[in-house]
Amino acid sequence: MRKAGNWSDPGVAAEYERRRFTSPLQRLKHRRDESLVAALLEETGEGALVLDLPAGTGRLLRVLTAGGRRVVAADLSLAMLRARVGLPPGVLGRLQASAFELPFRSASFDAVVSLRFLFHLDDRAERVRVLRELGRVSRGVVLGQVRFRGTFKHLGRWARSRVGLSRRYAPSSSRADVAGELEEAGLRLDRLVPVSRAFSDKALFLAKAPVRRQSLSSTFARSRAEGWTLGGEGGRK
Ligand SMILES: C[S@@+](CC[C@H](N)C(=O)[O-])C[C@H]1O[C@@H](n2cnc3c(N)ncnc32)[C@H](O)[C@@H]1O
Repeated sequence: MRKAGNWSDPGVAAEYERRRFTSPLQRLKHRRDESLVAALLEETGEGALVLDLPAGTGRLLRVLTAGGRRVVAADLSLAMLRARVGLPPGVLGRLQASAFELPFRSASFDAVVSLRFLFHLDDRAERVRVLRELGRVSRGVVLGQVRFRGTFKHLGRWARSRVGLSRRYAPSSSRADVAGELEEAGLRLDRLVPVSRAFSDKALFLAKAPVRRQSLSSTFARSRAEGWTLGGEGGRK
């Protein structure tokens, strides 16, 4: 994972979307992320409470708030959270939080969405720890993103490594790997959908959180977010 220090650099945060989502192919991938998130959250409808973690600069907030969903955006980096000016109306607030220890009560959200994060964690035990934490705060689904083996991009990378054209090759996850990590975290894999087998090596998964009694108490148990607690008008900038 890129060091927390880098993400907390306002320059890195300001460049994040321009560097990753401006070429036609990058824009296509972003739109595909958006349409997959929309499709996978179809049953998480009006009024549902969604946690976007890490929200980064908030590139998914438009699609997450569509259809009357309410969204809390959390990230370790305040610089990333602050990078976007103007938020869609359904955003309840933004706050600083670590995926390893979320400042929310169990079963607070109908859905937890985590894109472009888990595959940056090289250590399996760390991924399971984060997945367990995402599952803890969800009473519905957890939607995440992995590097997936069943793509042409992954096949090409493997083939190049076989003929010595690439020395850096790490196998991406198979469906069984994803299901196994989720199961270890107490979650059940429901769907695994490649972003595109042709031009991306990523896939989105939808996992079900364990069934348990819904917490009626306040969503927020504590917040280490100096001033970044929930508030109207889309939170502070
Ligand atoms: C590649 S960005 C992804 C942002 C967003 N989900 C997206 O799809 O554009 C990774 C984000 O993870 C955040 N991050 C890194 N470590 C974290 C942690 N332990 N807890 C919460 N967020 C973290 C970084 O600050 C950064 O904003």
